[in-house]
Amino acid sequence: MPLLTWKNKKLGETTPATLKTDAWINASTPPQNRLIRGDNLAIMTALLPKYEERINLIYIDPPFFTNRKFSARIGRDKDSRKPKEWERVDGYQDNWSDLDTYLDFLYQRLHLMYRLLAPNGTLYLHLDWHANAYARLLLDEIFGAENLLNEIIWTYHGPSPIKSAFNRKHDTILSYVKNKKDYTFNVDDIRVPYNENTVKTFKSSKKAGFGKTPNLERGKVPEDWWYFPVVARLHNERTGYPTQKPEAMLERIIKASSNKGDLVADFFCGSGTTAQVAANLGRNFITTDATWQATRVTLNRLAAKKASFSLEQDTAFPLPKLKSVDFAELIGTCVRIHAEYASKLAYWEVDQDWEGKLFKSGTQAILPVRRGEIPPEINIEGSIGNQICVRAVGVTGERYQTILKK
Ligand SMILES: C[S@@+](CC[C@H](N)C(=O)[O-])C[C@H]1O[C@@H](n2cnc3c(N)ncnc32)[C@H](O)[C@@H]1O
Repeated sequence: MPLLTWKNKKLGETTPATLKTDAWINASTPPQNRLIRGDNLAIMTALLPKYEERINLIYIDPPFFTNRKFSARIGRDKDSRKPKEWERVDGYQDNWSDLDTYLDFLYQRLHLMYRLLAPNGTLYLHLDWHANAYARLLLDEIFGAENLLNEIIWTYHGPSPIKSAFNRKHDTILSYVKNKKDYTFNVDDIRVPYNENTVKTFKSSKKAGFGKTPNLERGKVPEDWWYFPVVARLHNERTGYPTQKPEAMLERIIKASSNKGDLVADFFCGSGTTAQVAANLGRNFITTDATWQATRVTLNRLAAKKASFSLEQDTAFPLPKLKSVDFAELIGTCVRIHAEYASKLAYWEVDQDWEGKLFKSGTQAILPVRRGEIPPEINIEGSIGNQICVRAVGVTGERYQTILKK
């Protein structure tokens, strides 16, 4: 079998991250779902003792080797049609000194994912023309070429400045299983309606399909080329995070290759699409990202859906330090932020029985992505402890904390 080689290709020993829990969101006992900030190489190494061969589905959408820097949009007051006027912060880097460095990056991580994947699990790797040919060889080496399940083409459309070639409007998603004789593929959960013309043909002619009529009601198994529109400014699911993937696409992947209660992981989570869809579909999740920007977008998105999860950090990539600031007050059972903070906060939350150690976020208030203000009040239900801890994330990512006494 041909193998891809490059200078100094090797699998090194990797050092596990030291993981520290910052908060439990919507949970009073340790949640199964985990959102972890840090470098996924060290995080996956740290996860091995507990999760080796235990993750049922891994979807990753890593940097594509575009040699670009992506920024994320924040703030909403500027005209949506004038991107030059948008307020932006750093999103993530996809800059590499050379292809070898990128391949080292991918190779080491794919190996760890292989180890974490359950014996009947599936990995989906999402890339585009920049590096997918190399990645396929890496996956053939790690999984065995015979374990390629699909090469899926995701097509979309949109504006492009290209005038000297065809518009590049597809990505490639490679899916591999560990064992072709035993893996999850829920065919009846992902069927789609037949094309209208096919239905008409079968209804009008008995000879169509050489007399074999498909089950038109049940629908067909989708082809390995998919059309889903990219997440654009008019879509409700848009978070402003760059290269956000459509929920509908993740729904198809998660429904096909996992069951309710299974564990789904995305180690390059960006805006948190995989975790969000996994939670909606009754799956558990582990999701990680190296940047605070991605982590906090994911935190908002999951909290907005009332998901229950822990927020953790690799101590080498700490979350921003909590600044002690007096930004809220308690009136009866209602916590209210001071008026001057209303336009400064993107997210705030309350632990109504603060014991001084682990923050347990019982209720959250979130700045809506598209329009509307952040709720200035949280009404506490249930019993209130002697101390209440209120935490917040500002619109540019700074973190605040204030302790209130009953
Ligand atoms: C293409 S984006 C993922 C977008 C995501 N699928 C979504 O729907 O929003 C790639 C992400 O990988 C993250 N990333 C890059 N290198 C990483 C690393 N070593 N560990 C963890 N995350 C990393 C980046 O910060 C970025 O958010």
